[in-house]
Amino acid sequence: MTFQLLSISATATLLLIIASNYILHYVRSVLRGAKRPNRTDLASNSTESTVLLGNSLASALPDSIIFPHDAAAFEQSVNSYWAQQECEVIPACIVRPRDVQQLCTAVHILKSEYDERGKKDSREKEKVEGMFAIRSGGHSPVSGAASIRGGVLIDLSLFHEVTPSEDGSSVVIGAGAKWVNVSKILDEKGLAVTGGRSSAVGVGGLTLGGGLSFFSPRFGLVCSNIISYEVVLASGCVATASATTNSDLWQALKGGSNNFGIVTRITARSFRCAKIWSGFLYLPAFQATKVLAAFHEFVNRANSGDHSIRYDSQAAGPIACFTYLQQLGIEAVAVNLVYTNTPEDGKKWPVCWRTSSFRSLWRLWSTCKVRTLTSATDELNALNPPGRRQAFGTTTIKNDPATLAAAHCAYRDAIASIRRKNIKGMSWTLVLQPLLPEWFRKGDPNPLGLQNDGTDEPLVIVSFTVNWAERQDDEFVAATTRQAVEQIEATATAKNTGHRYRYLNYCGEWQKPLEGYGEENLRFLREVARKYDPGGLFQKGCVGGFKLGSMPSEA
Ligand SMILES: Cc1cc2nc3c(=O)[nH]c(=O)nc-3n(C[C@H](O)[C@H](O)[C@H](O)COP(=O)(O)OP(=O)(O)OC[C@H]3O[C@@H](n4cnc5c(N)ncnc54)[C@H](O)[C@@H]3O)c2cc1C
Ligand SMILES: *[C@@H]1O[C@H](CO)[C@@H](O)[C@H](O)[C@H]1NC(C)=O
Ligand SMILES: *[C@@H]1O[C@H](CO)[C@@H](O)[C@H](O)[C@H]1NC(C)=O
Ligand SMILES: *[C@@H]1O[C@H](CO)[C@@H](O)[C@H](O)[C@H]1NC(C)=O
Repeated sequence: MTFQLLSISATATLLLIIASNYILHYVRSVLRGAKRPNRTDLASNSTESTVLLGNSLASALPDSIIFPHDAAAFEQSVNSYWAQQECEVIPACIVRPRDVQQLCTAVHILKSEYDERGKKDSREKEKVEGMFAIRSGGHSPVSGAASIRGGVLIDLSLFHEVTPSEDGSSVVIGAGAKWVNVSKILDEKGLAVTGGRSSAVGVGGLTLGGGLSFFSPRFGLVCSNIISYEVVLASGCVATASATTNSDLWQALKGGSNNFGIVTRITARSFRCAKIWSGFLYLPAFQATKVLAAFHEFVNRANSGDHSIRYDSQAAGPIACFTYLQQLGIEAVAVNLVYTNTPEDGKKWPVCWRTSSFRSLWRLWSTCKVRTLTSATDELNALNPPGRRQAFGTTTIKNDPATLAAAHCAYRDAIASIRRKNIKGMSWTLVLQPLLPEWFRKGDPNPLGLQNDGTDEPLVIVSFTVNWAERQDDEFVAATTRQAVEQIEATATAKNTGHRYRYLNYCGEWQKPLEGYGEENLRFLREVARKYDPGGLFQKGCVGGFKLGSMPSEA
């Protein structure tokens, strides 16, 4: 009997190891094979007025505009999005400014054209159509967030400077840089900033949407650690936004996304940082319930009166990912654990994680080790290769066991219908990560509506990261993702365990993150937008992302 049990568990273990090897191979092959399909069927098309607009941009900025007939450069820029759907939105032309003056010239031309169209449209009682889109790292999964069909794409990739200050207290970073470009330079100097956790993601979009960092438990959100912004306003002029200059704009940019201007560079606070401890635990799907319990218990330390297990602000995460891979028909769990220092006493695991339930969970393997920040962000990035179709969706709940279980249940329920539909190349992932009140009170004030809303309970950001292979499945995947989010929200509403905040950078296109900041903050953002962009260039002329909605009247 005992022998039989043993051999059953040995067989099960063997099967799991084989399965996990498959996952590794699968992930690696996806990484290697991330080739773009041929897009010749998706030729760009543009109206007559856009052709004229392209011509005036070209005569003012001959070296910095790319048309489709310059095939190699055009393809390279259009293909540099993370999500495949974004690569399929073909602009009429691309402006890739080399410096701020060139960007000012471009915005000036766009603004004149916008005003012209506005006058014409008010005579003809039509609406101004979108004219341009702004892209930094191109990692938004929302189709059309940083792209425009038949319009002008502003590509900020040449704004990639990374310049640490002499005293090591701040770093000037171009909005078009990727986080890996920042961490590589800072790793060498033993410095870090409160920045992104995935190497290939862009600085611009992440920072303007809020920003979750490994260092957020210590210093707050990414946006709350930006000393100043350099921004090109609708007027075509450059402005600085800091605590002392245009301080209303400075605050509005901390979560207000692309509604105020085009950010060209930021100055971020930096601090000493040596190597960190980081990695993933990979577990079989039958451990999901235990992972949920360990997650709840760890996050709940923030609430605990017991000082021996206080939340250590060097601990980031856990980021718990529950994944279903359609291709292999299997589920797995991966948990990212981080400690932003080397473990105490030269031990393998830092105390905060050693004393958590994660330490003793039976797992397939662990990649946790001491490494550079760049290595940690490369590891996260490798799990999300480019070149696939992508969808996100998110909600925010309290750290309540029943609601966490409901989130996992919504994830499981969807798997049944994904199986039935057999979506090619589908990977369906539920991600849970903590967001503690004490984190968002650190650093500069921001308009996200979390700082003074009386919440003292730990929150959990729930999100779905979904990718698949074929365009024909776009609608089904979008509907499935939305339904899963709404199912969780219904439970949270019924149990009174929901929260109005939705992290903008994890939102699906149907969501309204700016409304989640609360009425007062939204009113503030609208006032700032009207002050710096009275004609509404960034509301109507600039497409993509999340807009502010009805603006205060001129009166
Ligand atoms: C693999 C992966 C890992 C991620 N990891 C994290 C993480 O660790 N922490 C986190 O907080 N988020 C993370 N995210 C979410 C991330 O913050 C968003 O995807 C964000 O939009 C990426 O910024 P970007 O510059 O690459 O995007 P883009 O697609 O270029 O831009 C996103 C939006 O911001 C606007 N925008 C961009 N730059 C500017 C600018 N300079 N001026 C004005 N508007 C601008 C664009 O118009 C667009 O609407 C991750 C996303 C992915 C895909
Ligand atoms: C893409 O299509 C073009 C035009 O039909 C062709 O010349 C090119 O070789 C194709 N590229 C690939 C990688 O198939
Ligand atoms: C451009 O092409 C798309 C898809 O083919 C079409 O829906 C759209 O109407 C076209 N726009 C113009 C301006 O021709
Ligand atoms: C940014 O990092 C990537 C990946 O390491 C590299 O290919 C690229 O050249 C870097 N860009 C700059 C401007 O340093």
